[in-house]
Amino acid sequence: MASMFISLLIFSFFFFLGTPLSSNYYQNTCPNVESIIKKVVSDATRNDKTAPAGLLRMHFHDCFIRGCDGSVLLNSKGKNTAEKDGPPNVSLHAFYVIDKAKKAVESVCPSVVSCADILALAARDAVVLAGGPSWDVPKGRKDGRISKASDTSQLPAPTFNISQLQQSFSQRGLSLEDLAALSGGHTLGFSHCSSFNNRIHNFNSTLDIDPSLQPSFASSLRRFCTTKNNVNNAGVAMDPSSTSFDNTYYKLIFQHKVLFSSDNALLSTPKTKNLVSNFASSKDAFFKAFVKSMIKMSSFNGGQEIRKNCRFVN
Ligand code: HEM
Ligand SMILES: *[C@@H]1O[C@H](CO)[C@@H](O)[C@H](O)[C@H]1NC(C)=O
Ligand SMILES: *[C@@H]1O[C@H](CO)[C@@H](O)[C@H](O)[C@H]1NC(C)=O
Ligand SMILES: *[C@@H]1O[C@H](CO)[C@@H](O)[C@H](O)[C@H]1NC(C)=O
Repeated sequence: MASMFISLLIFSFFFFLGTPLSSNYYQNTCPNVESIIKKVVSDATRNDKTAPAGLLRMHFHDCFIRGCDGSVLLNSKGKNTAEKDGPPNVSLHAFYVIDKAKKAVESVCPSVVSCADILALAARDAVVLAGGPSWDVPKGRKDGRISKASDTSQLPAPTFNISQLQQSFSQRGLSLEDLAALSGGHTLGFSHCSSFNNRIHNFNSTLDIDPSLQPSFASSLRRFCTTKNNVNNAGVAMDPSSTSFDNTYYKLIFQHKVLFSSDNALLSTPKTKNLVSNFASSKDAFFKAFVKSMIKMSSFNGGQEIRKNCRFVN
């Protein structure tokens, strides 16, 4: 009787939370999956230095909407507009890397490895290739069957203040520590003017420019992004070392040379400000915290199947 009760308890645990992820998930079914994906990501990065940033951001978007279930990879179909065609998609790119990795993996172990896992591994490989830390990626995610452009409104916006960011992260079980560490993803990549125009044109009714921007940095941004509604939606690097994964981003926060209000918002609570200070002075502290928070963020799953093609449900 007691054992039946315990089995029932264990069953409901797995039923509601899904199977837990594990590091050796593909040990028997696809032992070389990690090296196959790593080769594809590294070949792609050799020709396209922007691929790592694209992969890291794509994984973040995937995990923040419906859990890490590959929903960001699905194409729009019929009347359904998918996440990738929703508003904050301007910088989503490098989908071709996931397609290549999926093809390479399918040729060795068909219908075994989920697209969500491929994206999680590719994001880790991208960080490593850019000079960041490495970690063991827990695997066993399943792919979801739903992707809606309207869901992208659930993503945190670059105009968010600290309470809005905290709320967005806590809804996904992530803390202020996770927010401070994961924002360090902005050591890589580019942004379009539209993501920070709020700070450099008509900031509010009395000021044109956000006073929390360093003045000469603000002027240089205005040279690239000349009007509030830029037609020429130029790109600006997140930091001067935008293809290398390092702790420069945190130093720039203190110099008031980061692009988004959400980046600057990390200075507005003592807790996040202290973390920014730790990460600015110690790359090791940042790397350790980043790894811990990436594993946490990337463990939410919600899918049902192993997609054959990452762009389409089976
Ligand atoms: C804290 C809330 C966050 C906000 C508000 C935010 C917002 C943004 C925005 C607006 C862009 C630029 C889009 C564009 O204009 O092209 C961007 C780019 C980027 N974000 Fe975030 N982000 C957040 C968190 C994260 C996290 C957690 C990661 C990964 C760990 C991440 C990684 C990236 C990367 C790598 C890019 C550059 C993409 C590229 O160059 O292709 N972001 N983010
Ligand atoms: C982004 O979404 C818009 C619709 O909001 C769509 O027209 C555009 O093609 C998408 N861009 C990319 C790169 O997917
Ligand atoms: C953040 O923005 C929200 C929405 O505009 C506002 O209600 C809240 O008071 C702001 N919080 C802080 C700390 O500025
Ligand atoms: C504009 O922003 C500045 C700096 O944040 C602030 O001191 C000022 O009160 C704001 N003005 C209005 C009208 O909101």
